[in-house]
Amino acid sequence: MSILVTGGTGYIGSHTAVELINNGYKDIIIMDNLCNSSDNVIDKIEKITGIRCKFYEADIRDEKALDKIFSENNIDAVIHFAGLKAVGESVKKPLEYYDNNVNGTIKLLEAMKKYGCKKIVFSSSATVYGDPGVSKYVEEMGRGNPSSPYGETKAIIEEMLESLYRAEPDWTISLLRYFNPIGAHKSGLIGEDPKGIPNNLMPYIQKVAIGELKEVSVYGDDYETKDGTGERDYIHVVDLANGHVKALEKLTTPGIYVYNLGTGNSYSVLEIIKAFERVNNVKINYKIAPRRPGDLSRFYADPTKAKRELNWEATNRNRRYGT
Ligand code: NAD
Ligand code: WQD
Repeated sequence: MSILVTGGTGYIGSHTAVELINNGYKDIIIMDNLCNSSDNVIDKIEKITGIRCKFYEADIRDEKALDKIFSENNIDAVIHFAGLKAVGESVKKPLEYYDNNVNGTIKLLEAMKKYGCKKIVFSSSATVYGDPGVSKYVEEMGRGNPSSPYGETKAIIEEMLESLYRAEPDWTISLLRYFNPIGAHKSGLIGEDPKGIPNNLMPYIQKVAIGELKEVSVYGDDYETKDGTGERDYIHVVDLANGHVKALEKLTTPGIYVYNLGTGNSYSVLEIIKAFERVNNVKINYKIAPRRPGDLSRFYADPTKAKRELNWEATNRNRRYGT
């Protein structure tokens, strides 16, 4: 089975390529324009797995490049990670986000259709739930109003895929809604290495740990949470990657399938900082700062549907964070 992984040199894509290979999918084709990653990830995946993925440096909006990839390979399924993901940047540059994420996905789907490949696993996000007024997110709740243009692109792509399935019911489409991915492969060879100052909590803590940044700003300590700081459902990236393997394996009949990929637990910002200090034996300087606009106090996944239907659950969920 040949699988095209768009955005496969990125953080989640690279871990997924490794887990696919570990599960016997040896024919992995990666395409990435390298706007947020490096091609040396291909060497690293090979170092971890012993298998070299075929790599195309190409943009998903480039029809000619897609033609080349699909005509040179007999692709059975696509796992689609390629996209821009910085929430703050999306507020400042909405058109870039709609063009890259939405337009890019349209081009990719057109190429898939042209070459008769009708199986796609899409990287969606818990952000599509918007602000539903409850903390535990269940798939049945449906989409709300995402708080950023980035989130809107994910909701639009979900809608687009639903329309596509209604029009052409021979597609097999998985919408995987990730909660907060963190961590890295145990080899230390691949991981999250955002360019510039990180937006997300865990890479920020890591940069403070190595002395590159001075201190973590904890955005708000007056939420109605266990210690006043924001709570999230942090999921290990290897668990997340395995969710994609399960989606490929289990979803073999045409349909549109939606799953939360989270642990079902939430941890506060201070708990994460303390756990990081304890596990790594380092001091993380932090200060309490004002709330970050658009942040919710607390949310976490109800992961029971993925467990029931995909036989998937996060295995690192308690061990990793020391609670
Ligand atoms: P990432 O930036 O590490 O990976 C995305 C990859 O896509 C990068 O390697 C980038 O170079 C590539 N890319 C971007 N635009 C492209 C284009 N037009 N053509 C080809 N390649 C392109 O991000 P990630 O954390 O691995 O996220 C992967 C996917 O998961 C994204 O779609 C993201 O929105 C989604 N997601 C991420 C998170 C998270 O917190 N990391 C949460 C929910 C959903
Ligand atoms: C986590 C918690 C912050 C940074 C975002 C996207 C979401 C998804 C995952 C892609 C919150 C607090 C953070 C810092 C802090 N991405 N924090 N100081 O906002 O839950 O989700 O990434 O789909 O769509 O919105 O993740 O890591 O930014 O924040 O106190 O320097 O850490 O307030 O409570 P978030 P995050």
